[in-house]
Amino acid sequence: MRKKIFAGNWKMHHGPKETLAFLKEFKEIVAPDAHREWVFFPPFVNLMTMQETLNGSFIKWGGQNCHFEQKGAFTGEISPMMLKELGCTYTLVGHSERRQIFGETDSLCAKKVKALNEAGVIPMLCVGETQNERDENLTSQVLKKQLHEGLSLWDPSQPLTLAYEPVWAIGTGKVASPAQAEEAHQMIRQVLSLKYGPARSAEIQILYGGSVKPDNSRELSALPNIDGFLVGKASLIPKTFALIGQTPL
Ligand code: PGA
Repeated sequence: MRKKIFAGNWKMHHGPKETLAFLKEFKEIVAPDAHREWVFFPPFVNLMTMQETLNGSFIKWGGQNCHFEQKGAFTGEISPMMLKELGCTYTLVGHSERRQIFGETDSLCAKKVKALNEAGVIPMLCVGETQNERDENLTSQVLKKQLHEGLSLWDPSQPLTLAYEPVWAIGTGKVASPAQAEEAHQMIRQVLSLKYGPARSAEIQILYGGSVKPDNSRELSALPNIDGFLVGKASLIPKTFALIGQTPL
């Protein structure tokens, strides 16, 4: 059975003080569980606070982004090796905000996936179609392209996680219906299966993201190909995020 991952993408919210207060409250309401993993993706400036507060705990953390080189003259960038040093288990790659606002391409994502694996950090590659692409029946084509190109440098013996985040559902309050989400997750698993074989494909966790809240997480979590959630807004409040992850499995 694939372990469910409940990941909070804080985006550009919560500074170090708020992070400390959040974690204090969160640790009191969530208990370790063999079938669930909890992960936070805070702004970089909080990673040290995460490491100091959560070291040895069942709660994991990671970066929201990284550079594809381990060091060098890249002003303003953070490398996979630095994230590893700060205890990051995972790091997001190609979140739709990175793609849309900062112009990140699939080939850039491919380099980041490789660099993260080389540093011993698990990439969480985000894929998903826009509303226009869905309306034009291009969802499958878009997902295939993002996966083929984004994983073009990936060594399948290395760990990997994916997040399906339809762009039209991110921060909009519009959540994919269970049928839409399961269909996309099945498509993704099918692409993985054709490329890397059914056994490897069956091991890879695929999270759903886009307006996940306590009142829609239960139905989505019961779907066979949904292995947890990448949660934005609803992960900013300890009780709300805990409720999402405490969905019965
Ligand atoms: P949202 O964001 O839950 O606020 O829609 C999800 C994400 O961007 O990862």
